[in-house]
Amino acid sequence: MIRKSDELLSIGEVSARTGAAVSAVRYYESLGLIPAERTAGNMRKFPRHAIRRVSLIQLAVRFGIPLAEVAEVFASLPEGRTPNKKDWSRISEEWNQRLEDRKQAIARLQEQLTGCIGCGCLSLKTCNLLNPGDELGRDGPGARRL
Ligand code: FES
Repeated sequence: MIRKSDELLSIGEVSARTGAAVSAVRYYESLGLIPAERTAGNMRKFPRHAIRRVSLIQLAVRFGIPLAEVAEVFASLPEGRTPNKKDWSRISEEWNQRLEDRKQAIARLQEQLTGCIGCGCLSLKTCNLLNPGDELGRDGPGARRL
């Protein structure tokens, strides 16, 4: 698609509008998370909807959602367009579930950690946090990896 140059933003403008560092915008573009076009002078220019994409990426980063998963979400959108209201509703529901899963995993870890408070045994045999599952211990005593 050919756009008029005034419809395109420089990397500095995208950075200023989103608060993302220029290097971050460049990185997101290198991962294919935001589209960019090259001008005749080989300058990198971004369509306006890149601002919304960068904002969503920043939100995902704050939630600890890997960029690979953000890429999957963006790839699921028709013609690589930016998420609309309906898309965002679906995406936010998925991300909410991820946060809930992480919250529960952290609660389980915290419960186990509580058992260590005041114990201090640091035992690789009895402390489940220090040696979860002791998978290599199932192969027998002593060093299993050299
Ligand atoms: S340190 Fe003793 S159970 Fe974890």
